[in-house]
Amino acid sequence: MYKVYRENEEFASFIALPLQCAYLRDSGLEFGIALWKIGFMSKVRDRHSELKKLISHHDSLYHVQDRPEITDYQYDQLFSELQQLEKNHPELDTSDSPTHRVGGAALDVFSKVPHRVPMLSLSNSYSAEDLAEFDLRVKKFLLLGEGKEVEYFCEPKFDGLAIELVYENGLLVRALTRGDGTTGEEVTQNIKTIRRIPLRLQTKSPPALVEVRGEVIMFKEDFAELNHSQQEAGEMTFANPRNAAAGAVRQLDSKIAAQRPLRFFAYALGATEGVSFKSQEHCENQFHEWGLPVAESGVLRKTVQGSEAVIDFYHDVEKLRTSLPFDIDGIVVKVNSFRLQDDLGLVARSPRWATAAKYKPAQATTVVENILVQVGRTGALTPVAIMKPVKVGGVTVTNATLHNQDEIDRKDVRIGDTVIIQRAGDVIPEIVSVVLDHRPKKSTPFKIPERCPICGSQAKKAEEEVIFRCTNPLCPAILKESLKHFASRRAMNIDKVGDKIIEALCDAGFLKSFSDFFRLRKEDVLSLDRQGEKSAQNIISSIEKSKKIPLARLIYAFGIRFVGEQTAKTLAEHFVNLDGFLDADLEVLQTAPDIGPKVAQSIYDWLQDKRLLKDVRDLIRLGVEPQSLQRKTTGAFAGTSFLITGTLPVKRDEAKDFIESLGGKILSSVSSKLNYLVVGDDPGSKVERARELEVAIISWEELQKMAKS
Ligand code: IVH
Repeated sequence: MYKVYRENEEFASFIALPLQCAYLRDSGLEFGIALWKIGFMSKVRDRHSELKKLISHHDSLYHVQDRPEITDYQYDQLFSELQQLEKNHPELDTSDSPTHRVGGAALDVFSKVPHRVPMLSLSNSYSAEDLAEFDLRVKKFLLLGEGKEVEYFCEPKFDGLAIELVYENGLLVRALTRGDGTTGEEVTQNIKTIRRIPLRLQTKSPPALVEVRGEVIMFKEDFAELNHSQQEAGEMTFANPRNAAAGAVRQLDSKIAAQRPLRFFAYALGATEGVSFKSQEHCENQFHEWGLPVAESGVLRKTVQGSEAVIDFYHDVEKLRTSLPFDIDGIVVKVNSFRLQDDLGLVARSPRWATAAKYKPAQATTVVENILVQVGRTGALTPVAIMKPVKVGGVTVTNATLHNQDEIDRKDVRIGDTVIIQRAGDVIPEIVSVVLDHRPKKSTPFKIPERCPICGSQAKKAEEEVIFRCTNPLCPAILKESLKHFASRRAMNIDKVGDKIIEALCDAGFLKSFSDFFRLRKEDVLSLDRQGEKSAQNIISSIEKSKKIPLARLIYAFGIRFVGEQTAKTLAEHFVNLDGFLDADLEVLQTAPDIGPKVAQSIYDWLQDKRLLKDVRDLIRLGVEPQSLQRKTTGAFAGTSFLITGTLPVKRDEAKDFIESLGGKILSSVSSKLNYLVVGDDPGSKVERARELEVAIISWEELQKMAKS
């Protein structure tokens, strides 16, 4: 069924045609060639349209229905065939081609486009009683008789960014943000990268126009992974899934948006032509049939009678809330009948026929005692609020990152402010807002200094970045952080040398480079405060022990920007030994698998720094022996792939090491290539995906048993 179609094969089959035509002397050779060209093009066009359909079909099976029918490899084959075809025949590259999902050229600015029908906001409240009042208001307005109940449609209030998708004759032609409700920004390129959004509605008879509104969100697990990899690569992290999703949609470079794991849920209608619906339920069922994702029917999307059933829904969904794979901040209740919605109309900019009932987040109030600016290993200046300790959802919180100047400006957080904090995505503490009534009289807005707080050098911001970085490569803060990263557990694993000791060794002048670790003598350590004979010996021994190190870990330990653990492994596998890596030029770096131009450039710049290179050579001279990466082909898990989700009884890193030490391979997502999904407590959406793909799901205990057998 999935025949691989190559143009030259096709060419061979068609070459016969002009030859036959050439035979017809009176028609002439030219006519023959013209005929052949028409035949060839129509076959190419047919295949192009067949490929588009096939890929959209498999996109929907994979991303919307979670039941793929072909392997990732087969999918990639279809995709690259389509890309090749469009490269050779640019005239075929239509706007609904799935190849647009990988992002296009970067924009300078988004264009502003008016909404045909304004995007309204919702009245909202925080309690079940308010829902009963909403129901009373609706009944009163509709002059409903005693004992009559209104039919309501209930679903979650998704916590993301509202988007309008414009489908003309079934084709996705535009995607707009809500903007001010009247005019939005056109973000079509970015929205097309979300594979769950169909580029063409799945129907033979699409309406002339339908505007579908919904929310772009990021799943909690995807958010955690994104922040982890951003941090590892020395990049900016996001406060919560909503900011990460909104930031991705508003990226001018759609190639970056394409890399962010975004999702979409449809929930409302804008303008239409050639289609009408009788109710919200009818409308969302139709969305679903057209291949648009909507909230799960029966659990998160329900039609009920009367306010009591609405209140039950509010409580039922609240119970499910933490176990849902995405953040919701409440429920939305809509009068189901569109005729009644029309009767009810609007008050100001909110419909009288809908309301949102929110859930109270785990929040607390405290005071910002100071804002410190920390300097990271890539020189990034990160403002951190130091707060009066306070308990939020059972955990004492004292620090919260303020991320960058944009974030500080947006929230206008100042020293001395009383702030409301909450734990975002159930983990990271986040300042939500300032209680302005409690603001001290003389406070001033906080500005991140233009100079590095440690070395005083000028801090600079790259063009499209929001982060200021210290520009001094010899900045003591950058050095300290780089050395801490170098010695850390996932890098050189110099286990007896913690952050405090590194700071003390730096301050005493013993550590100025990576290689200085291997020049350290016991006397040096003993000269520090509070260091006895035994601990000094432990430190020296653990440094000695770290000398035999897998090449991937050494490359990761260098702390090159954008080179996280996974990239370091790829580089080690590709270059086999350290010299191969150190000698690589830009072109060679770009040939390594999965290394894009940005990463290649960053590695190349690092390799051009003579001081760093000398330091690396010194490491080798002083006895560091990088071990080439050899995939273990023996061991209980050889040739077997694993992925971990949820909380295990051991740390995630330990579990990964355990699997790899027995020859297993860790994959980054659930696919048909995956052999086992190892599941801990509170697992994410991966479990569902694994079930659909019939991937074996095992517990940590079962994994231990497998290792022994
Ligand atoms: S209906 C007239 N349904 O809430 C209301 N909105 O305050 C049309 N939202 O900007 C929207 N989940 O971003 C609706 N299930 C849901 C929603 C939802 C989230 C957001 C949406 C809108 C805001 C309204």
